[in-house]
Amino acid sequence: MMWDVLVIGSGIAGATTAYLLAKQGFSVLVLTKAENPHESNTYYAQGGIVYKGPEDSPELLMEDILRAGAGISNPEAAKIVATEAEEAVNEVLLQAFGIDFSRNDEGSFDLTEEGAHSVRRILHALDSTGKAIEEAAIATLRRTSGLEVRCGYHAIDIITLDHHTRYPHRMYLPPTALGVYALNQKNKRVERLLAKNVVLATGGMGQIYLHTTNPPGATGDGYAMAYRAGARLINMEYTQFHPTTLFHPRANNFLISEAVRGEGAVLVNKYGEAFMGRYHDHKDLAPRDVVTRAILSEMYATHEPCVYLDIARLGREKILARFPTIYHKCLEYKIDITTDPVPVVPAYHFSCGGVYTDMYGQTTIQRLFAVGEVACTGLHGANRLASTSLLEGVVFGRRIARYLASTVSLWKHQPYDEVPEWLETGTETIDPALIYQDWALLRNMMWNYVGAVRTKKRLKRALVDLKNLREDVEDFYRDTKLSPEIIELRNAVQTGFIVAHHAWTNRESRGAHYRLDGEET
Ligand code: SIN
Repeated sequence: MMWDVLVIGSGIAGATTAYLLAKQGFSVLVLTKAENPHESNTYYAQGGIVYKGPEDSPELLMEDILRAGAGISNPEAAKIVATEAEEAVNEVLLQAFGIDFSRNDEGSFDLTEEGAHSVRRILHALDSTGKAIEEAAIATLRRTSGLEVRCGYHAIDIITLDHHTRYPHRMYLPPTALGVYALNQKNKRVERLLAKNVVLATGGMGQIYLHTTNPPGATGDGYAMAYRAGARLINMEYTQFHPTTLFHPRANNFLISEAVRGEGAVLVNKYGEAFMGRYHDHKDLAPRDVVTRAILSEMYATHEPCVYLDIARLGREKILARFPTIYHKCLEYKIDITTDPVPVVPAYHFSCGGVYTDMYGQTTIQRLFAVGEVACTGLHGANRLASTSLLEGVVFGRRIARYLASTVSLWKHQPYDEVPEWLETGTETIDPALIYQDWALLRNMMWNYVGAVRTKKRLKRALVDLKNLREDVEDFYRDTKLSPEIIELRNAVQTGFIVAHHAWTNRESRGAHYRLDGEET
């Protein structure tokens, strides 16, 4: 079997690309490592997706994106997203997926605001926007003919002409993707899945950090696979931390959406002082990196392990109507957000960098495309504007689908028959103590040395320690029988190393890459 397009990942970016290609008659296979195709970063997004406010314009949105990006956003990507946002949301989310975004009493969309936006322009489905999008997207994929979704398939490596065909002279041809090797978790066999085009839509890497808003599947698979295949990765040092996640030993950094501050909630320190005015003119709606560092500095100054978010000032009625998910989740931990200040801390949230792509999702490997968080079009620069990540997935998924459809004549036939079946070498059973310890090491190192505040000394230690860990884990991978645990650990350590390396080589403090000893921009 040979597919026209193989999409790895079933979040909004993968779903958009797959759906639009299948609708044009291409055969599409969507792979996801999760048992449930909903499981993705998209599902957990609370805030919303940028649309168009009443006093809004593409120029204004572009300005906001560029300002948040701290001077290094790619203006071309920002212009594309700002110009195509409304049309892409209309075509994909409203018409194709039929998403019911929240509306006000007059029946128009209830647009909300978040940090660093000049106007209210964000569509939301109460405070569980990602869930509404993902459920509708997967339901649409399920009824689209020519499209198959396979769950429980763990992509291991991208098959490329230069690495995997039997003839060494193929290395003189341009690097080209031919498919992937993937572990079918049901029968524990590795399958060789060949395709004319491969689209990486694998999402992010939050699990490499000790504290993250990302779900367990965010292990950096796409970055590591692309790196091993020889693709170019850029801007990996720009790791965005979300300022407000619930501080509670059992809450796993549950996200408290920025939309809460957009509606008027205020950060206070342990003395009840609203401190953001001391750090930025936009106070609680300053860019995320500024808010994150302000919170950390208040925590140090007050010797408190968190700061607090005063949501109660919005009033009980509004809170229950607008933020039911956050309200109920906090109540599980005995925090009533209609009366109590909510303890919050920053946690890793989003990678602004990723696998380099052009404006049609093309990576530096032929027939390999990337979209969504794993990709880097340069849109986010050094710091992402809130509620642009879902949008980026829709806009660029649509562009990839259009590009592929209009360039079918360029899809050269490749020597697929030269690709061997997977040869498994590892025989040892996995040692869970090693897996546990390697993850603990990685997460602590990334959090302490490559976190929201970095120094030369911290980064140097990270590089040395991560290099050793990477070697150990590579040996471990080779000796052990393949399993999702070892595949994810290998990818996570590789991704951590890439982030640390990019952070080390960039001595300039900018946006989400903040070095205490760095050169100021
Ligand atoms: C949030 O709801 O605060 C997250 C939105 C985003 O990361 O864009």
